[in-house]
Amino acid sequence: MSRYLEIKETLLTAPRTWLITGCAGFIGSNLLEHLLLLNQKVVGLDNFSTGHQHNFDEVKALVSLEQWERFNFIEGDIRNLDDCTKAVSGVDFILHQAALGSVPRSIADPILTNSANITGFLNMLVAAKEQKVKTFVYAASSSTYGDHPALPKIEEVIGKPLSPYAVTKYVNELYADVFQKTYGLNSIGLRYFNVFGKRQDPDGAYAAVIPKWTAAMIENQDVVINGDGETSRDFCFVENAVQANILAAMANEKGLNEIYNVALGDRTTLNTLFNSLKVSLNCNNVEYDKSPIYQDFRLGDVRHSQADTSKIKELLGYEPEYRIQEGINKAMPWYKIFLTK
Ligand SMILES: NC(=O)c1ccc[n+]([C@@H]2O[C@H](COP(=O)([O-])OP(=O)(O)OC[C@H]3O[C@@H](n4cnc5c(N)ncnc54)[C@H](O)[C@@H]3O)[C@@H](O)[C@H]2O)c1
Repeated sequence: MSRYLEIKETLLTAPRTWLITGCAGFIGSNLLEHLLLLNQKVVGLDNFSTGHQHNFDEVKALVSLEQWERFNFIEGDIRNLDDCTKAVSGVDFILHQAALGSVPRSIADPILTNSANITGFLNMLVAAKEQKVKTFVYAASSSTYGDHPALPKIEEVIGKPLSPYAVTKYVNELYADVFQKTYGLNSIGLRYFNVFGKRQDPDGAYAAVIPKWTAAMIENQDVVINGDGETSRDFCFVENAVQANILAAMANEKGLNEIYNVALGDRTTLNTLFNSLKVSLNCNNVEYDKSPIYQDFRLGDVRHSQADTSKIKELLGYEPEYRIQEGINKAMPWYKIFLTK
């Protein structure tokens, strides 16, 4: 039996209490859905800056009433220590997702990104160590690899950050490490590589590439590619990221206080992605026959990204269940319904 299945059985028989920060967002609401389906008690903290009530409405419709009643939502801000303290009270594990994502957003407003991603992160660490939570799992980022050219990316070899966002995510790792050394707070940082799936927001200037292109295709708009389309990413379906979070929270001694890549270990170019989305939409009766429009490379973007996933496989027992095309095919019906409502 896989480690993930084993842990899910343990959780079903002995439910725990979890705090998900950023639970109204994309990854947070997927974590919420999975934990409620496992009959866990969940506390949520979010200020709706990029998250949405409709994500909660969807999760509510996917779980039983009894499961939904195990969810306690606190509308609050991680930049406010009192909100963090209130949210961590009585929880076993923290899955800290709240942050302002997006490299371009951080270039447009570094102070705002810094306040959520560093001040907010520090508040959460302080609240977690006061409460003596078992494990503080947090969303780190592949952007921490910065300008280092080596491929695939291994956790120990990083370069210099290329954006204010990347700085904040690296500072998170430094703070978590110091909190372990000085206060004994156990943590795990998950360096997500381009996570995608249902409930990833297709709207706004800072939308991620898969929801943005999917929306453009469904609405028969042009798809714009930054650069020549040969930029590559290790796209990771959200259910693989959910697995990584649950494995991390339940890690044994050997796996604690480490940083892990969360990805598939594959590399997909933007040109290939464009075709994969087209094919998947076609299977959902959406025809798209425009060619992409190429424009300049975007500031702060890394050229190639591909993870080495051996560390998380070995120390946490991670076995990603979905490859990119399977993930796209699973997410597509959701986008079709969401965007044509
Ligand atoms: N999606 C990815 O590909 C990816 C890649 C690397 C890292 N990450 C990290 O994963 C985490 C989740 O990302 P996501 O894609 O789900 O983004 P998201 O924007 O959908 O979710 C973030 C959530 O955090 C909340 N939030 C933001 N600032 C807050 C604050 N000050 N107080 C309380 N809540 C706040 C937002 O309202 C939102 O609900 C983030 O930390 C992000 O940096 C994501």
